[in-house]
Amino acid sequence: MSFGLIDGFGRIHDSLRISVTDRCNIRCFYCMPEEAVDYARREEILTFEEIERFVRVAATLGVNKLRLTGGEPLLRRDLPKLIERLASIPGIHDIALTTNAVLLSQHAQALHDAGLRRLNIHLDTLDRERFRQITRRDDLPRVLDGINAAVNAGFSRIKLNIVAVKGLIEPDITPMALYCRERGFEPRFIEFMPLDAQSIWDRGKVLLADDIINLLSREISPLIAVPDADPRAPATEFAYADGAGTVGFVASVSKPFCLNCNRIRLTADGKIRYCLFAIEETEVKSLLRNGAGDEEIAEALKRNVSEKWIGHQINSTKFVPPPRPMYSIGG
Ligand code: 5AD
Ligand code: SF4
Repeated sequence: MSFGLIDGFGRIHDSLRISVTDRCNIRCFYCMPEEAVDYARREEILTFEEIERFVRVAATLGVNKLRLTGGEPLLRRDLPKLIERLASIPGIHDIALTTNAVLLSQHAQALHDAGLRRLNIHLDTLDRERFRQITRRDDLPRVLDGINAAVNAGFSRIKLNIVAVKGLIEPDITPMALYCRERGFEPRFIEFMPLDAQSIWDRGKVLLADDIINLLSREISPLIAVPDADPRAPATEFAYADGAGTVGFVASVSKPFCLNCNRIRLTADGKIRYCLFAIEETEVKSLLRNGAGDEEIAEALKRNVSEKWIGHQINSTKFVPPPRPMYSIGG
């Protein structure tokens, strides 16, 4: 295997996040505008064939891990077929999916049958009214059904993503952690990042990982840092002192992890991004559509990675929010 995707800071890129659609069926306020969402036109979205071809080329350059994201990826018809095709590409060892679970009860079994084993489910609260307030949709019952369907379909490594917004999710932290602990899921608290469509982010609205660690340690059981199994994973893991479960923290704001980053992104409309916060992107859809050879696609990927910056500047006055909000990057 070749490691062709090394950037100027010596970071090897072996993990690719693929957004399969920018559409979403709910409207989380830290991601989407309430109305008038500016979606890409259908013909701008990569086909399954185009995604598969891109992944084949990426795999020859050392990419071995994939994560499918959205928008909401389950809005893409026949997603299990794409998963099956990607899973059969030589060199791809691991495929994960991030979903809001609204449509999961219909698709859990087919996803599992297609070979998917890792699921991250986006859910901030177990309270119906708060769910409605955050997502502007009344879909909590469907999400909970979706989670149950995933368990019944055989998924065992379920993680729940919770966006840590200060002044909002504090009442949900302990209930969410207990819900996960009882079911063997891992909650992952993700610090609120400046990727929302309406520019409401400010530093004062970020609930910091340390504050959540202190709260859960007091209310449930002391949390102890687990020595890094994978230093390049974005989440740091903690385990309860009583042995019953783990909790992950993605402390992108308080403890940036850019120095260990191994990730590149492909947007639904066919652009390569070396960072969630990247301003510049490399166009690859036109190559895929205009008969370019594999070498040209490989060159585009290598060029994008070679231009990668050292890391985001959320904590500096120089920070410029990226031109795309979360739903059109894929997280
Ligand atoms: N800040 C941090 N995390 C976010 N997500 C969506 N918007 C934001 C934001 N502004 C998370 C959701 C989703 C994941 C891909 O990113 O939890 O599951
Ligand atoms: Fe949809 Fe995910 Fe954005 Fe929520 S965070 S609006 S589920 S894409």
